[in-house]
Amino acid sequence: MHLLSLAALALSIGLSIASPAPHVRVRHEKRTPSPQWLKRTRAPPETSLPVRIGMAQNNLDVGHERLMEISDPNSEKYGQYLSAQEVGDLFRPSSESIDAVREWLHNSGIESDRHSVSPGRGWLKFDATVEELESLLFTEYHIYEHSDTMEQHIGCNEYHVPRHIQKHIDLITPTVTFAKLKGGEKMKKRSKLASLSRARLDPHVTPAETGGRQMSVSGNSGSEVPCYLAVTPDCIRQLYGIPMGTTNQTGNEIGIFEDGDYYDQEDLDLTFAALAPYVPNGTHPTLNGIDGGYAPMDDLIGVESLLDMSIIFPLIHPQAATLYQVDDYKEVELSQGFGNTFLDALDASYCTYEGGDDPTLDPHYPDTAPNPANESWLPNGTWGQSEMCGAYKPTNVISVSYGLGENAFSYFYENRQCQEYMKLGLQGVSVIYASGDSGVSNRGECIVPSNVTNYTTIENNPGAFSPSFPAACPYLTSVGATMLNSTTELVETAVSVPEEGYWSGGGFSNYWPAPSYQESTLRSYFENTPPPYTNTTAYGTPYYNSSGRGYPDVAAVGQNILLYVQGAPSFVGGTSASAPIFASIITLINEKRLAAGKSTVGFVNPVLYQNPDAFKDITTGDNPGCGTDGFSAVKGWDPVTGLGTPIFSKLLDVFMALP
Ligand SMILES: *[C@@H]1O[C@H](CO)[C@@H](O)[C@H](O)[C@H]1NC(C)=O
Ligand SMILES: *[C@@H]1O[C@H](CO)[C@@H](O)[C@H](O)[C@H]1NC(C)=O
Ligand SMILES: *[C@@H]1O[C@H](CO)[C@@H](O)[C@H](O)[C@H]1NC(C)=O
Ligand SMILES: *[C@@H]1O[C@H](CO)[C@@H](O)[C@H](O)[C@H]1NC(C)=O
Ligand SMILES: *[C@@H]1O[C@H](CO)[C@@H](O)[C@H](O)[C@H]1NC(C)=O
Ligand SMILES: *[C@@H]1O[C@H](CO)[C@@H](O)[C@H](O)[C@H]1NC(C)=O
Ligand SMILES: *[C@@H]1O[C@H](CO)[C@@H](O)[C@H](O)[C@H]1NC(C)=O
Ligand SMILES: *[C@@H]1O[C@H](CO)[C@@H](O)[C@H](O)[C@H]1NC(C)=O
Ligand SMILES: *[C@@H]1O[C@H](CO)[C@@H](O)[C@H](O)[C@H]1NC(C)=O
Repeated sequence: MHLLSLAALALSIGLSIASPAPHVRVRHEKRTPSPQWLKRTRAPPETSLPVRIGMAQNNLDVGHERLMEISDPNSEKYGQYLSAQEVGDLFRPSSESIDAVREWLHNSGIESDRHSVSPGRGWLKFDATVEELESLLFTEYHIYEHSDTMEQHIGCNEYHVPRHIQKHIDLITPTVTFAKLKGGEKMKKRSKLASLSRARLDPHVTPAETGGRQMSVSGNSGSEVPCYLAVTPDCIRQLYGIPMGTTNQTGNEIGIFEDGDYYDQEDLDLTFAALAPYVPNGTHPTLNGIDGGYAPMDDLIGVESLLDMSIIFPLIHPQAATLYQVDDYKEVELSQGFGNTFLDALDASYCTYEGGDDPTLDPHYPDTAPNPANESWLPNGTWGQSEMCGAYKPTNVISVSYGLGENAFSYFYENRQCQEYMKLGLQGVSVIYASGDSGVSNRGECIVPSNVTNYTTIENNPGAFSPSFPAACPYLTSVGATMLNSTTELVETAVSVPEEGYWSGGGFSNYWPAPSYQESTLRSYFENTPPPYTNTTAYGTPYYNSSGRGYPDVAAVGQNILLYVQGAPSFVGGTSASAPIFASIITLINEKRLAAGKSTVGFVNPVLYQNPDAFKDITTGDNPGCGTDGFSAVKGWDPVTGLGTPIFSKLLDVFMALP
């Protein structure tokens, strides 16, 4: 498949017309070309498009400083979180911004009575023709065809706004993120075992291995089998010194995020009975379904959900869990975006009033289309719901084992989400993400420059390293994976499963700079153990951006996890296992802090980086990809296993010593 040459027509037009105009125009966004999108004809000028302008939020710099302050163990303000209301008020876009943008639109021929502002003031909305938009944004719209689905979309390569407008807006859609043309939808039928892959969105899990390595699991926690062969809850407890939980305090439930993957009660019960008999039969999370998300779903059985819950329930018992099951059955299939409907459900101020935050990528609610799968068994309440805005209070800890390549979406799309994680941190919430399962690549794909036309999506192409999203957002905690050494009991090394292309996701963000809490750690890393990539890729580009946010932050075991899948004992791997382990540990630490009358731990990274001794440093292994050996696990922090794996007692001491 070839990438078409994408001429920068719009840029030349923009520059030539810009000079006599009263306002200097600047390019606001440019698309990263992808071989998946084939450029077809010019868009018909009379086509009407639903336009959204995402307004820049106020006080983001203030929010950042505030988060760093209240998460800094040396600050007097440690643990002094904001309420959801205070957070909404702090960041609401200013009236000046809204007035400036509306005036610009009005003066450009899109009269004031055509646009409206969302209740949270986050978005400005209007319909406009392609012709109007081309003139407004100094660009050209084309039809693009998706190489896999053949669906037709409309969009542009880049667009321009007056310089004085730029600071007031984050993004405009549809532009470099495309709008799907109506009528061209093709349905993909979901297999009975919930698919592990969704257009560019993967749960970070390697498929369950059944058969071949099946073994009978003893009723007493699988104790005859060494941990390196079968990682049980007891093994995890032993590895990190995790005590049994003691209370099930209301308000300290752990949050589990699932998207298009559904748990199965019978499998959970089998796992609990075999490996954690203290967890009662029938234990399951409380469903906080989002926009029609529902679980369990009859015979749709997802390994990701089973893995998360088979790890979390035994570790946090008797604490309960809350399931954020995101999106209805159809939208899970059709939408390409990630994360926004979830964040909408936690934060009303983030929500648009019509559903989804990017109409080209995110699901639309209410879902008025007929149930495409026509599955009569779909439970009531999972269809036709309005979009949920601020429907749920976030749990103290949220574990997410999903992600995709950072280059999948624009900076603006991803940065808005990253800022939402900052807002959760401000409210005392810990967000824990899996770092990805394919080393420095994105499932074998690497980043090639946009002018390279003969790029094919070959495995391990020699492009630049491709970081993970959201794992590389600096306001969450990113967890990489280790595995156990087969000769020495309970010794960990960076995970390496070459036959599955599975290595711990890690590297440096191209979107977010290194945050202050990481600065001295990264300086030591580059000074003492510089990675060997002083050369460039075959395309002449650097392999990674050394001023980017480094990830993961920490690691935990993520291979040979034993659980039941479809009635059979199975071994599952992935940073998908590592994230819920770390999230469970944070939940147990919150349990102790809350019992002592203290706050939750909230955004933990500043504390973690100041306390590397609370981790077992992992110094062997690497995370290959893009035709290289990737990075190496070294002494101290590294972009494979972060600070290392947790030592529960030390982490607990650190956090209990804080106010
Ligand atoms: C759990 O409970 C269900 C329903 O009561 C029962 O059918 C099943 O046998 C139990 N499972 C185990 C492993 O005890
Ligand atoms: C949690 O505690 C309540 C009362 O304190 C009890 O009724 C409930 O069974 C407990 N849940 C679990 C999972 O232990
Ligand atoms: C869905 O099922 C109903 C009856 O169960 C049938 O009338 C209808 O045509 C089906 N729709 C589709 C899209 O298959
Ligand atoms: C949904 O609700 C309707 C009306 O209450 C009922 O007839 C139907 O059986 C329900 N469907 C399911 C799958 O529960
Ligand atoms: C792509 O652009 C870079 C920098 O502008 C240039 O050095 C390189 O030769 C170009 N590559 C191709 C294949 O055109
Ligand atoms: C692409 O073309 C360049 C030179 O035009 C060549 O060196 C390179 O091997 C080609 N890459 C692929 C993947 O075909
Ligand atoms: C396991 O540990 C031993 C001793 O520490 C070491 O020599 C060996 O290389 C390790 N093996 C792996 C696969 O890491
Ligand atoms: C490298 O990262 C920094 C910090 O995020 C960013 O400002 C810069 O644009 C990045 N450079 C490239 C070439 O991506
Ligand atoms: C750059 O150096 C790395 C590390 O030595 C090596 O793996 C890679 O193949 C080199 N790249 C090129 C294009 O020679």
